[in-house]
Amino acid sequence: MLVGGQGTRLRPLTLFTPKPLLPTAGVPFLAHQLAKAHAYGVRRIVFATSYRASMFADAFGDGSAFGLEIVYVTEDSPLGTGGAIRNAAKALKSPPDAPVLVLNGDILSGHDIAAQVALHRSRGAAVTLHLTEVADPSRFGCVPTDREGRVTAFLEKTLNPVTNRINAGCYVFQRSVIDSIPDGEVVSVERETFPGLIEAGAPVLGYADSTYWLDVGTPAAFVQGSRDLVLGRLESPALPGPVGESLLLSGATVSPEAKVSGGTVVGARAVVESGALVRGSVLADDCAVATGAIVEDSVVGIGARIDPGAVLRDVVIGDRAVVGSGNELAAGARVWPDVALPECSVRFSSDI
Ligand code: GTP
Repeated sequence: MLVGGQGTRLRPLTLFTPKPLLPTAGVPFLAHQLAKAHAYGVRRIVFATSYRASMFADAFGDGSAFGLEIVYVTEDSPLGTGGAIRNAAKALKSPPDAPVLVLNGDILSGHDIAAQVALHRSRGAAVTLHLTEVADPSRFGCVPTDREGRVTAFLEKTLNPVTNRINAGCYVFQRSVIDSIPDGEVVSVERETFPGLIEAGAPVLGYADSTYWLDVGTPAAFVQGSRDLVLGRLESPALPGPVGESLLLSGATVSPEAKVSGGTVVGARAVVESGALVRGSVLADDCAVATGAIVEDSVVGIGARIDPGAVLRDVVIGDRAVVGSGNELAAGARVWPDVALPECSVRFSSDI
């Protein structure tokens, strides 16, 4: 499991918490992936950690609470996706001819892992990539395949994508292929390993499907992921409550005169006052949304305060930040932790 990235696109949410540990529909994001892997039959997972590495063991321990054995391998300095896989392989127990499942730690997916592994085995592949289709493939690894499903190129973040099919961040590797990645070096699977294997004629396969898929790497996608889990658009055994319009964590208080809907999570001890309207958002623990405030498709950080009448749409409010009464934040705004906004009406541009 690749969990060592810095999550720069999600700042300020990732300043103190790595992306895979961000509370998502009431639990650390990874809990959803661990539950999915467990349901498939995985029992031992190696976490490739780097950024804020110790926080992973604090959250998941030895994995026994999840029916798993979790082992942590931390890079001295970030090795990139390929270097991290190679480094983590030191803790693998599988023989060279066994398949190894590798997951990016920031993906929500409804795809059938068993079918992906079965395809890999039946075709004797070196690597089998889960592929999905997106409207704008330019932000991802574009992966064309031939009629037999063999990957013909791997074009990472290209301006001229030749197909809408992209790398969905779940791989089955032959163990021997992982061992052939240079040890102790910074390597990108997307820019080096996959293109290199394809050029060398190794059998790299695509497992394409069209079930639910989301990369939660941006604020809008992160909010969408949480929303979709709460609404039940993607089933997760890790969801700590029934699916519905909202998920209230322990000690959350929502006034009967407030409207909270659209898959909103209300964090532990968070307060939503009367007349507030919260839709499709993530309210972190201990935050407060005051009377008459409107919060849509946004993240409100731990202990943050949204004062009366403030309007937030598509924005990220960092931990403990205060949005003063009457402020209106435009889509894309990000307020960093501990930044206090003045008690007057200010309109922020979307490129803040
Ligand atoms: P951005 O900085 O916003 O691009 O996010 P990111 O750092 O997570 O990078 P990206 O989304 O491309 O990473 C894909 C997956 O690889 C994520 O699960 C990351 O945690 C992981 N990852 C990226 N770089 C490294 C690394 O150097 N070491 C380890 N162990 N994991 C990494």
